[in-house]
Amino acid sequence: MDFVLWVSRVMHVVSAVVWMGGLIFMNAVLNPVLRHQGDMPSSKALSLYRRFFPFLWSSLWTMLVTGTFMALLSPRFLGFDLSTTWGQLLAAKTGLFVLLLIVSWQAVAVVRRIEAFMESDARQAEAWNRTFETLVRRSIVLGIASFLCAAGMAVA
Ligand code: HEM
Repeated sequence: MDFVLWVSRVMHVVSAVVWMGGLIFMNAVLNPVLRHQGDMPSSKALSLYRRFFPFLWSSLWTMLVTGTFMALLSPRFLGFDLSTTWGQLLAAKTGLFVLLLIVSWQAVAVVRRIEAFMESDARQAEAWNRTFETLVRRSIVLGIASFLCAAGMAVA
């Protein structure tokens, strides 16, 4: 069982790094370069976002499955009894995860909107692209808060 827990922790952390790393790269490198080169919104930008979405969903689902597995097997998991710091941080992280799912779902829907307006209304496409950039930043903030909860759980 130790091996399974070890693999779960590795998959959990790697998924968090792939997901968070991808979003930070998108926000700090990709989008500024695309915007500077006048390629936002563009079909190139949309292809790059769509290429990232399978990584986003596979990371999020892997984090959910491995996190639930680690929680259920942890002697510190007391169900809905949140009397311990570890339990409170796990609950907070689970809540953040639900928010992350919602923001990720919104981001996918917004990319469809950008696509819909690309040919017909450049101003609308630009407005939805700005919304997408805001959702990426919002995900990063939620992700940092999740990492802080994880670090707190490790020392609780
Ligand atoms: C429903 C969602 C989640 C659940 C149920 C969950 C659950 C857990 C559990 C039980 C552990 C082990 C804690 C321990 O051994 O004391 C853990 C570790 C960790 N979690 Fe999550 N987690 C979730 C989401 C996330 C998210 C969204 C992130 C980051 C973006 C994250 C990052 C981490 C990290 C980095 C660790 C490793 C900490 C260490 O090894 O010290 N988790 N998680």
